[in-house]
Amino acid sequence: MRKEQLRIIDMKNIALDTFELRVENSYISQTAVPGQFVHISIDNRTLRRPISIATIDRDNEIITLIFKVVGAGTHDLSTYAPGKVLDALGPCGNGFPIDDVKENETILLVGGGVGVPPIHFLGQALAEKNVRVISVLGYQTKESVFFEEEFKAISETHIVTNDGTHGQKGFVTNVLEEIGEFDRYYTCGPLPMLQAVTKQLAYKEGFISLEERMGCGVGACFACVIPTDEQGGYVKICQDGPVFAAQEVII
Ligand SMILES: Cc1cc2nc3c(=O)[nH]c(=O)nc-3n(C[C@H](O)[C@H](O)[C@H](O)COP(=O)(O)OP(=O)(O)OC[C@H]3O[C@@H](n4cnc5c(N)ncnc54)[C@H](O)[C@@H]3O)c2cc1C
Ligand code: FES
Repeated sequence: MRKEQLRIIDMKNIALDTFELRVENSYISQTAVPGQFVHISIDNRTLRRPISIATIDRDNEIITLIFKVVGAGTHDLSTYAPGKVLDALGPCGNGFPIDDVKENETILLVGGGVGVPPIHFLGQALAEKNVRVISVLGYQTKESVFFEEEFKAISETHIVTNDGTHGQKGFVTNVLEEIGEFDRYYTCGPLPMLQAVTKQLAYKEGFISLEERMGCGVGACFACVIPTDEQGGYVKICQDGPVFAAQEVII
């Protein structure tokens, strides 16, 4: 991880309150792996904001980030124009472990809302390894859906919306009952979704990425600790994660 400058190439509103931000940076584009994030400094805000890497174009050194406007920091970020240079730490955290995934395996990806972006970068890496990928993506409503075509290009894709306005109605967990056999799963999304998915797939090997609150992002402030067992053990999401084996942490 290094302190780097990200030059904004473009900022696009791609879904309800959701923005696609493309930035140029040599070091992060060449070294980041799926599951890692950048920790972006926003003008006049003390704490940096963590945003996962959604796609990397290594040839052109371009990184795509997708973020939802939820508060003041992400609102300010959405107003930035091309040409502006962002101060960021990156690539931060660990990545999804995929070195041992074999060509003939079927991998299940489950993403919810702003948990979808890191799953996309992962899906691209798996598709490059000629792995069969099944993606189940959950959104609140039709207007919130993004990256459907991008996922269809690399995987068998199931879209779910809470209100049924696009794709299947319900939660990602409804679809998990129907998708058939797979070897391993990776998931990222809101905590209730991660709790439901890991419970339903408890019999399978799986990895989760946690996008919970963060402070310093470098292991110093303890804002991001989560328990690992009943005996008081804990890990830091920023340093030890954000990716963990599904059974490693208590969520
Ligand atoms: C590893 C990681 C990856 C993430 N990747 C993405 C992504 O790809 N796309 C995306 O839309 N969002 C992502 N998030 C969530 C994103 O960081 C928060 O939505 C954002 O920090 C909120 O900032 P704000 O100023 O708009 O909100 P405010 O609520 O005003 O923020 C106040 C403070 O709380 C912190 N905070 C608030 N909500 C969160 C949250 N859910 N997670 C972490 N910190 C929070 C902020 O950092 C800030 O310090 C990620 C979070 C983590 C930890
Ligand atoms: S965010 Fe400060 S220790 Fe993890």
